[in-house]
Amino acid sequence: MKEIFLEEVDSTNLYGKSNLDSLDDRTVIHALSQTSGRGRFTRAWKNLGAGNLFLSFVLKPSNDFRSVYSNLTQYLSVVLCNILESYGITPQIKWPNDVLVNNKKIAGILSETVMQGQLFRGLVLGIGVNLNATFDLLGEIDKPATALNLEIGRNVDVFEFKNYLVSEFFAEYDKFLETGFEYIKSKYISRADFLDKEICVQIFDKKSKGIARSITDNGELVLDSKGKNVVLTIGDIL
Ligand code: BTN
Repeated sequence: MKEIFLEEVDSTNLYGKSNLDSLDDRTVIHALSQTSGRGRFTRAWKNLGAGNLFLSFVLKPSNDFRSVYSNLTQYLSVVLCNILESYGITPQIKWPNDVLVNNKKIAGILSETVMQGQLFRGLVLGIGVNLNATFDLLGEIDKPATALNLEIGRNVDVFEFKNYLVSEFFAEYDKFLETGFEYIKSKYISRADFLDKEICVQIFDKKSKGIARSITDNGELVLDSKGKNVVLTIGDIL
């Protein structure tokens, strides 16, 4: 494992993608600040300042794309939940990979696959965790958000948290790639409080309403929409 530390960068994901060729497999890019943080579906990820985590894993596990790579965001969400629980809080996962505390978002995960034509070059798996923020700053985010310091009543050392996350991520990474989503399925479902509830899922500009019935062995969401089960691989629960 190699690590790159940057005081400031546009986005750790962008840095990973632009330098993918020269970076080794399992390189961790950690920045104290992002000027142009990116979220899912081309949204922005707010820079909450140096006490918060902005990190990307550069992963080059093989020369061909395997479907299990799409589940790495879910793997990372489970790793993060384990860590947050060790701080005494109870996180929930909102499919596919948002991590919330008391219905407020505490972290976001964005995986980007790098292809060259048909060739798979690798992926950049980014995570932002709100570790030390003020209510004022969080109020500038368009959705309800929280931060670990506000949940536990004390500040969190960003480097300590980063080391904890990176070591927990790699502890079971190989095993996860070998086994697939089923390896984490029960741990994922135990935090998935959207199940059996009426939800609305946005897939690009289309919205689907229904009851979240289950999660498949591949990490997809089964939505019961007017009595018909629809299997979703991508989307955003609103
Ligand atoms: C989301 O919830 O929409 C995903 C947010 C992902 C944010 C992280 S912060 C580190 C990495 N660099 C980025 O530009 N984005 C990810």
